[in-house]
Amino acid sequence: MWVLASKTLSSVPFPFLYNPIPNRHSSSSKLKLNSSVKFEYETERGLDFETGESFFRHESATGRDLGVLAAALYKKSKARLRILDGLCGCGIRSLRYLVEAEADFVLANDANDDCRDVICRNLSKVPRGSDDEPRWTVTHTDANRVMTECYLQREFFDLIDIDSFGSDSSFLRPAINALRFDGLLYLTSTDGYSSGGHRPHHSLAAYGAYVRPLPYSNEIGLRMLIGGAVREASVLGLRVVPLFSYYSYHGPVFRVMLRVNRGKLSDNSHYSFVSYCHQCGNSQTFHGMNSVRLVAPVAMQSPLSSRGRFGQDLFTTPPILQKC
Ligand SMILES: C[S@@+](CC[C@H](N)C(=O)[O-])C[C@H]1O[C@@H](n2cnc3c(N)ncnc32)[C@H](O)[C@@H]1O
Repeated sequence: MWVLASKTLSSVPFPFLYNPIPNRHSSSSKLKLNSSVKFEYETERGLDFETGESFFRHESATGRDLGVLAAALYKKSKARLRILDGLCGCGIRSLRYLVEAEADFVLANDANDDCRDVICRNLSKVPRGSDDEPRWTVTHTDANRVMTECYLQREFFDLIDIDSFGSDSSFLRPAINALRFDGLLYLTSTDGYSSGGHRPHHSLAAYGAYVRPLPYSNEIGLRMLIGGAVREASVLGLRVVPLFSYYSYHGPVFRVMLRVNRGKLSDNSHYSFVSYCHQCGNSQTFHGMNSVRLVAPVAMQSPLSSRGRFGQDLFTTPPILQKC
């Protein structure tokens, strides 16, 4: 598993794009025509677009870069690319998937229908195609509903991008269902409280990981997210392989790109316990569901069981995913 640090990439222009917004809106500018209509313009990797009143953070550009890179590689190897951008905001990801990854089709969805005009204006830089074979479509429904309807109609996607707030793991099952075998699932969590171990019951409910405060909470946040997806997929008889993970301090934001395939995990070695001693700083991983038996004598004999935080937790909690 790669863990990448945040870094801003330089802009790469796309001169072939129709650009209805002159260059005076260089990187981020606001133009208020009246109190009710607000236009905000941004530029990312050479693409100009509007954000309007939608939720947009330019700090997330690297996360979008990585999604686009994975999508472009997928298109190269499979010669097809259908994408569902489930929580698209102003539609910048959808636009970048269409332009940079040359997606054949993007379904851009955001529950907030106030974003519709902005999304449509942004995507209209790419010709929409015919009614029978559109390049892009915009919808405004709960992402779970869109994905479930696609699944029921057997309209599967090569890449599903879930750019959600907090630790909303309710998207996992519908997203996995609507994904083609060997497809890519790009997930997000912004729940720093859970990864920091401050809401163990919440992380347990969301991802099946009882997380306590650890000095490497950023890594734990990524593993927590991967672990939740692994568990959901395994219920459906599917296997998840992490391709990359990315932590960014703004938010904080945890992103993981997963490949989902047929076939169960070969054994339970992907489930582990992580122990950490707050006194000596020693950290240890116990692999497999037999960990409890392995850990018991260790914890009984060491100061962990009486003074360390994790000696007892090891016996009482489900595992957090440790090995990918
Ligand atoms: C983090 S923002 C998306 C940002 C966008 N992907 C980008 O890269 O700029 C999350 C978006 O999800 C939308 N949203 C929240 N709950 C949703 C749901 N259940 N289904 C679909 N969209 C939802 C919000 O309106 C918001 O625009």
